[in-house]
Amino acid sequence: MKNYDLKKLTLEEKCALLTGANGWQTDGANGKVKTVWVSDGPSGLRMHNPEKQEETFTATAMPTCHVLANTWNLKLAYEYGATIADECIYRGADILLAPGVNIKRTPLCGRNFEYFSEDPYVSGKFAVEYVKGLQDKGIGTSVKHYCANNSEYDRCHQSSEVDERALHEVYLKPFEMAMEAKPWTVMCSYNPVNGVYASENKKLLDTVLRGQLGFDGLIMSDWGAVHNPVRAVEATLDLCMPHYDGYVEKLTAAVKSGKLTEKQIDERVEKVLKLVEKNEKAKPTRKVESTEEERHARAVKMAEEGIVLLKNEGGILPLKGVCGDCGKQSENCADGCGEKKKYFVYGSISECPYLSGGGSGRVQTAFKQTALHTLIAEKTGAEVDHRSDNQWDRDWRGMYHIAYDADVTIVPIGHGDGVEYEGDDRMSIRLTEAQEDRILKIAAHSHKTVVLVYAGSAVDMSRWIDAVDAVVFVGFAGEGVNEALSALLCGEENFSGKLTETFPLTLEDTYKGGDTKDGETDLYDDGIFVGYRYYDRAGKQVLYPFGYGLSYAKFEYSNLKIEKKGDTDFEISYDITNVSDVAGKEVSQVYVKDVSAMVHRPEKELKAFSKDEILPHETKTVRVALDYSSFAYYSTAFDKWYVENGWFEIYVGGSSRELPLKGKLKIELPEDTQYSTK
Ligand code: GLC
Repeated sequence: MKNYDLKKLTLEEKCALLTGANGWQTDGANGKVKTVWVSDGPSGLRMHNPEKQEETFTATAMPTCHVLANTWNLKLAYEYGATIADECIYRGADILLAPGVNIKRTPLCGRNFEYFSEDPYVSGKFAVEYVKGLQDKGIGTSVKHYCANNSEYDRCHQSSEVDERALHEVYLKPFEMAMEAKPWTVMCSYNPVNGVYASENKKLLDTVLRGQLGFDGLIMSDWGAVHNPVRAVEATLDLCMPHYDGYVEKLTAAVKSGKLTEKQIDERVEKVLKLVEKNEKAKPTRKVESTEEERHARAVKMAEEGIVLLKNEGGILPLKGVCGDCGKQSENCADGCGEKKKYFVYGSISECPYLSGGGSGRVQTAFKQTALHTLIAEKTGAEVDHRSDNQWDRDWRGMYHIAYDADVTIVPIGHGDGVEYEGDDRMSIRLTEAQEDRILKIAAHSHKTVVLVYAGSAVDMSRWIDAVDAVVFVGFAGEGVNEALSALLCGEENFSGKLTETFPLTLEDTYKGGDTKDGETDLYDDGIFVGYRYYDRAGKQVLYPFGYGLSYAKFEYSNLKIEKKGDTDFEISYDITNVSDVAGKEVSQVYVKDVSAMVHRPEKELKAFSKDEILPHETKTVRVALDYSSFAYYSTAFDKWYVENGWFEIYVGGSSRELPLKGKLKIELPEDTQYSTK
């Protein structure tokens, strides 16, 4: 394997290696160094087609990462990365610019669909498997956007003012956890952090990322995030993307003037050369191991596990074909007359569903959708009528008659890349007033109403949720959405997704501090209280809590056991019984509460979870491990993680607000590790 010799490179060639050759490729130093191709994005390959600059090659549009996280299935996360890796190998991309691991601090953020969760532990666990899935196939990754890039509004200028505890316990945590997978690169964000651009923030890039988190790969900038090449090199940024005209001149001038030493240049060049060598070493190991059809089938399977059933009053779902065949009678007959059911699917989304939000994460798929209403008809044998959105304006009374005559009206509704996209935030978390009106009006004329919500983050449903019988949060579920959704709605598959972000009752209920109105800074004075940590501390009701999701099955929890394995190592075990006649997968969650600490801490924090398939009337014993990181907080007294002795409570259940099992354990570390003991 070729090792490059710095001495054979001129100063100009070395400086040229520190910025891209163009938008997607590293520099070749006059042919002396191999180059590396990078490409977006988190939910599938979005690779620019060199022949048609504005276009990208088509690829499999996977469910976007918020739907992947809603599966709570880490094996799927690994498979997801491996699936995208096959398309990178096929197209010749060496590094995928993903995953995005930014925390969903506000449901307004335009890129929430690209991210995993409001919770750092979920985000970190998914990041690890995602990165391993790609890198085990020889394709590099770029964990992004480092860091505290939690809204899109004015992302290139507004400084995220974050205290040390919130930084480490919330915003850096997914990056810290991702280090387990040894990502080839990390991408720094556009925004300043505590007043200094991430691309020239030496404390963040060197002291923290390299020093504390142990990152030894290459740090690249987000596209256009470098403002000052000399300060970027001083801060140890390795690669400025994309090509920056004048980068070489500015750096060589700085070396000649003594502002920079050649050693500082060489240290950055070493990182670029190591990446090139790593890439060259990986190339022979790469092989495509899936077909387009297999990749599509995986996208369907992941969507099936990531779409979330939020409401199912009276068990209106699953839809059946004929009256009585599921033990439930139609409205107008007593004993299951066997007559065909009638369904009305109202909305254009049935034929052209939203697959993703907008921006660099959007994938161009060649897959041709079969309409949702067609699939429902095929799967149930029922009579299914469909009307598109514009039918409403022409003949809204006609809609009412069709709805009235149907057993169930199904309303796919929401938005896509026109509302949620990179570079801007939503102003509201509601659907449009017209959409809400339509739901209310059509429901008023329907026997039963099922609403399917397409969005990339939390939606305020409070105005219409009580008027409908069932609600499914589809999310941006990728090209497999209609096959997945129809299988779930018709009972071929069972829902097993759960929310990885809180759905608040209204935007007013979310944390709104922060905006200092000076247009310059976003004050993170919610501190560590983000997501469910915030709603718990504020004692607020929410529409649907973090970790919530329904199933056609019903699970009961029992028999919590806590076994000490070491000073801060414990095995938590508990039984889950499926008390229904339907097989299902349950996502059980384990939360930890520090009963009394010398610092403020959240009411509870997720520290373990498990997704388990449980057959009808089966009881499964689940075992998870807790370790030092399950109990520690980031001490700004010591600038490191720290565990205080004392009692901790353990809560186990199927949602952050439904935790039927409770236990406690005591941490008793040697006295000389403890400070300020009472
Ligand atoms: C964009 C995004 C980043 C993406 C890069 C290349 O601005 O912030 O996520 O990977 O530029 O498109």
